[in-house]
Amino acid sequence: MRLSDIEPAYQAFVRDVIGRFGFDPATFHLELAAADEMFFKGILPGYERPGAAFYRYVESALRTHVVYRQLADHLGGFSGLDRVLDFGSGYGRLTRTLRHRMDAKRIWVSDIYGDAVAWQTTTFGVNGVVSAPDPDDFQATGKFSIVFAASVFSHFPDGLFQRWLARLQNLVRPDGLLAFSVHGVALAPEDVTIGPDGIGYARWSESETLDPGIYGMSYVTEDFVRRAVRETCGAKAAETLRCFPRALFEKQDLYVVGGSGQPLESLKVQATPVGGVNSFGRLDKPWMGWGVESNPGHQIVRADLFVGDVFAGFTAPTADNVATLQFFPGAPNMPVSWLFARVPGDGERLVRVELVSDTGLKAYAYGMDGVGEGRAAPRV
Ligand SMILES: C[S@@+](CC[C@H](N)C(=O)[O-])C[C@H]1O[C@@H](n2cnc3c(N)ncnc32)[C@H](O)[C@@H]1O
Repeated sequence: MRLSDIEPAYQAFVRDVIGRFGFDPATFHLELAAADEMFFKGILPGYERPGAAFYRYVESALRTHVVYRQLADHLGGFSGLDRVLDFGSGYGRLTRTLRHRMDAKRIWVSDIYGDAVAWQTTTFGVNGVVSAPDPDDFQATGKFSIVFAASVFSHFPDGLFQRWLARLQNLVRPDGLLAFSVHGVALAPEDVTIGPDGIGYARWSESETLDPGIYGMSYVTEDFVRRAVRETCGAKAAETLRCFPRALFEKQDLYVVGGSGQPLESLKVQATPVGGVNSFGRLDKPWMGWGVESNPGHQIVRADLFVGDVFAGFTAPTADNVATLQFFPGAPNMPVSWLFARVPGDGERLVRVELVSDTGLKAYAYGMDGVGEGRAAPRV
């Protein structure tokens, strides 16, 4: 699927949001490989309109980049990084942004799907290493400044979870870090039992081919992760462990472990808020929408309305959006609602609502006459 395959309004949303996050829409890679199960099986079915799913995929790449940039900044910025590894990279959600900030020769991607690795090495010119079901068979060598595993440990069962941790931590430079995301137990469906060790596992996923014994849906407590890190990476590494609840994909908790000489006390990671227009507003009628600030203790404090690029007013969102909460179980902050009684316009120009968080980061919600990009995917 390419950008040109989606409705023109969504094409405009995608181009605009890419620019807002500091990338050039003309050079940002906007093709989704037909074999990308994460998009076609995991994200697309959650939306009525393919354009909305495409938009959310691109937005999630950009929001992941903001998290990654904060990790890189802690290590002195992108230019100071040696090689980096994206483990469980899929079809390059992260690489789409990273290649604009680092030389592709320093970027390594790895996935159990050889086709995904080959697609990325051909498309982006990055290095690839095909992974394996068993960590002992993983062929990556050398050390990396950042080993990143986004939405991968959130799928590993007990046992493999710890063994992959040990294997990946072993690939981290002393001055580097390992970052991985998990599902907290608040996200577990009712039929998944959390065992006494703090992990629950369901034998299903978006993958139609991976053995559900090695890749399913896992839900873990913070104690489980802390114990796993201590037992597999050692007491020194465990002392560096930092947890950033809900920092990735709105729902996943991000854990960061330092290399042997990498203190992480001063590491700061904040997630970008997310939001959308859910009235699919007609111009000259009220426009309503939602917003979610996932950093605990923070909130979206203002909504600015732009028609085209002209500022058209602002409002104070209210933290009362119980309907949206169902998509973000256990969210640390109540989702907000916002409303503009009337949106001036001609049906031709992009309408953008900027949801400003007290962290300083912003979510973007888009609409055109009769079209809005809607809610976030229920799962990623
Ligand atoms: C939910 S997807 C996330 C993809 C990517 N990190 C992203 O954020 O778009 C999980 C990925 O982990 C990969 N994976 C599963 N088991 C793996 C293993 N043993 N080694 C490497 N990758 C694995 C899957 O093939 C899939 O591409």
